[in-house]
Formats: sequence, structure tokens, C-alpha cells
Amino acid sequence: MMQREQPALIQAGMGVHISSARLANATARLGAMGVVSGAGLRHIVVEDIRAGDLDALRLARAFPFPRYVEELLAYAPGGSRHNKPVPMDTPDPARAALPRRLSVIGAYVEVMRAKEGHRGMVGVNVMWKCALTVLPTIYGAMLAGADALLCGAGVPMELADIVERLRRGEDLEYESLTGTGTRVQLDVAEDAPASLLQRMPPPTLIPILSNYPFCKRLTDNWQQRHGVRPGAFVLENHQAGGHNAPPRDKSSFGAQDDLDSYFEKVLSLGVPVYVAGAFPHGGSRDDLLMWQARGACGIQVGSRFALCAESGMRADLREQMLAQVRAGTLTVSTDLRLSPTGYPFKVASLPGTLSNPELRAQRTRLCNLGYLLQSHFETGEDGVVRETYLCPAMPAAQYARRGGDPAQTEGRICLCNALLSTAGYGPADELPLITLGVSGVQVDRLWSAREVVEDILTPDYVARRERELRLPA
Ligand SMILES: Cc1cc2nc3c(=O)[nH]c(=O)nc-3n(C[C@H](O)[C@H](O)[C@H](O)COP(=O)(O)O)c2cc1C
Repeated sequence: MMQREQPALIQAGMGVHISSARLANATARLGAMGVVSGAGLRHIVVEDIRAGDLDALRLARAFPFPRYVEELLAYAPGGSRHNKPVPMDTPDPARAALPRRLSVIGAYVEVMRAKEGHRGMVGVNVMWKCALTVLPTIYGAMLAGADALLCGAGVPMELADIVERLRRGEDLEYESLTGTGTRVQLDVAEDAPASLLQRMPPPTLIPILSNYPFCKRLTDNWQQRHGVRPGAFVLENHQAGGHNAPPRDKSSFGAQDDLDSYFEKVLSLGVPVYVAGAFPHGGSRDDLLMWQARGACGIQVGSRFALCAESGMRADLREQMLAQVRAGTLTVSTDLRLSPTGYPFKVASLPGTLSNPELRAQRTRLCNLGYLLQSHFETGEDGVVRETYLCPAMPAAQYARRGGDPAQTEGRICLCNALLSTAGYGPADELPLITLGVSGVQVDRLWSAREVVEDILTPDYVARRERELRLPA
């Protein structure tokens, strides 16, 4: 089929809401794979509905199960929950289902808006470390007909199993999602007729990984247990924005962590490979041709799109970033401590944001969004094992009360609030934090998404694909 031509460019999934549906829609219709970030979608979509966003309301109403629609539309102007906070995930079985269902329909709405008006490929980026929203995000994206699931910030070992079981209409439960220790569940069968789920097209499964052993183990595991292979790998070098895989020596990245050290070995697995975060030419056509000459099928570009006109980054912050690049003062560094996930995180040095340690120290800690919560099990004096949720960015006393070691909280930043703020969705008193890849310091003017895609894929190719992918109005 014409629209299934394998794209040479993936517009990267960047959270929170940097890879918005607007950005993914703009790139997918031009022949790239457009990817929406799956992070924080419960909040993003509820806030859009609360604000009366007509597209979000229209697409929410198209969701196939009425209970989910009613629950989301309760936040619309005049609705019964209009002024209520967005519920967090909770281990309390009596209250756990509502936030999960809102996450499902949130992912559905976001993917649907990225798909409107064209036949191009749309994927969703799912972070394994956001364990509690992994299942709802995948489910909502599949109900919306997402073409690809790109899963990183962890090892998405369960991905093939999740997709297979969802398509069979089974309720899901995993005692410990790989690498997180978190118990995750999703009720599916109660609302969804099996016939509808069987019709969901199987998405291409694209793990995002940063070494050979995980690629090998995951390929073998999926092959043996499910008879499927990854549709592609994104191999992400440590210069990429967002979270990076931890360095092998635990303190700084060296040659042993470079993509060069494992790229050829991964190619030998016979799975198509996209390269990310290894762009000496700033994420341009030269980088694409260089990696294709070495055997990659394409590249996944993030930073250039994060700073382009259609990205979900607050416009004032984007302008300041570009001005800093032009002044030659923007730096990108790796912070090994900041992220509650324990993974290294790239931070762009923008004044007035949480890249400034003094501003970080002034923030009053509060855990009110909860996307990075993880299970913690404690046996009470009565011998009963109880589950609580912990995030090392929560207030130290709350963390200790729930059984965590308060030393873990030192130096952690609430990425949920900081990154929602960067996208303009945070409360006024929460400061933003900007993440960017090393290649981002080369972006010195405001590009449109079209200009970036044309620069990488050529205007001729883009013109042809745009014609082929256009849907009649
Ligand atoms: C602002 C920003 C946010 C990112 N957020 C995510 C994310 O949520 N999940 C993810 O898998 N990768 C994330 N990344 C990494 C990108 O998906 C991509 O692999 C990387 O940016 C490619 O390298 P480049 O920045 O040099 O183009 C992020 C990157 C940026 C710049």
C-alpha cells in the first residue's frame, strides 16, 4: 500500500506535549512518521476539554465506549467535574479505574488529532518509566488506530504481549513492569466488545534502546513467546534530549556508551534501525545519508522539531532558546541526579527555568500529577502486604511516611510539573524546565515543521508524499 512506504524520518516523541498532535499531524502528512508524546496525556486532554477545545470535544465524543466519554466530558464547561483536579493514579482499587480510563481516552483523542486529514503514519511514544500509564496509553492509541508504538525510557519487554492480549480483549495485569517494579493493571473486557478489539490494526512495535544486549534479549523473547519481531529499533545515543540510558561506568558517558560501539551488532539482528541523538550535522540530510550509508533505514530527529513553530513548547520559551543559541550562550548538559526515574536527563541552560539550582531549591515540593509514581510494597505489623506509590521527587516526609528512604529524594525535580509548565499546561507558580539534545544548540532560527522535513527528506520527496497521503476534504 502506498501509505505504508517505510519513512526514512521519524519526528521524535518528546514529552511532555513537545511532540503535540499538531506537530505530529504536520510531519506525518509530509511523509515522515509523526509521533505524539504519550506522557501526561490525561492532564493535557482534560485541560483542553476544560478549556472547551472544540476539536478535543468532537474527537472525545467519537470514542467507542460511552462511560469514558461521559467521564471526560464531565470536565467540559458546565460539566460536573469542571472545577475538579485531574485524578492521579492510586493503588486503591476503589479509585484506580477513573484515572486509567481518562488516560485511555486522552491517548485516543491525541492520536486522533494527529491523524486527521491525511493517511500518513502516526506513532505514539510510550515511556516505560511512566509505568502506571503504559497500558492505558497503548490501549487508547490502538483504539485510535495508531500505526506505531515507540517505547523507551526503559526496556519494553512486555510490549508484544500487551498488544497481543489487547487485541484478544483480555484484561491486563503485570506484577512488575520490566525495570520499574510497578504492578500495572487495565480492565478492558467490561466495556469493549471483543469483535471491536480484534479489528484494531496491529501497530508496528518500535523499542527505543541504547545497547546491544537489550536489543538481542528483546528480539529473542518476542520471537520465542509471540512469534513476532520488532518492526524497527530506534537506537538512541547519549547525546539525545530527554532521558538517556545510564552510562556504563555510572558517572559519565564514554566511548563504551557511544552508539558506534553497538550499532553494527544491532544491525546484525536483521531488524531495521533508526538512529537518534548521533547527529554531527545537527539532524540534517547529511546525517540521514551518513547513517543510511552505514545500514540504518533512517533517523529519529527530536531537538530541531522541539524548537520548531508547531512544537508544543511555550512560544516565549522557544523564542528565548533561539535567542540564546544566536548569542552562543545555550548549553546542554547531562544531569545524573535530577530525574526521579534515576536516569540521566539532558538539561538546557535557560535563565528563569529549573536549570538554575537556586530556583530548584526554592520550589515547594508537591506530588499532585504522579506520572512517575512506582509501586512500593510494605508488610504491616499485621503481616498484610500493602502497596503504596512512591516518587523520589515527592516531599521527603511523605516519601519516608510511605516507606521510602528519604535520601533518595535529594536533588530530584518534579518532572511532571516542570515539563507540563514548559508546554504551558502547568500552574502559574510552577517553573519550566527545558530538555534538549546536544544537536539543539545548532538551531538558530525558527523553522516550520515543513522546512525541517523538507531539509531532511528533500522538497521533491515531500511534495510527492504529501500528494499521496492527502485525504479528500
Ligand atoms: C524536548 C525533548 C523531549 C524528549 N522527550 C522524550 C520522551 O518523552 N520520550 C523519548 O523516548 N524520547 C524523548 N526525547 C528524545 C527524542 O525522542 C529523540 O530520540 C532525540 O531527541 C533525537 O536526538 P536529537 O535531539 O539530537 O534530534 C526527547 C528529546 C527532546 C529534545
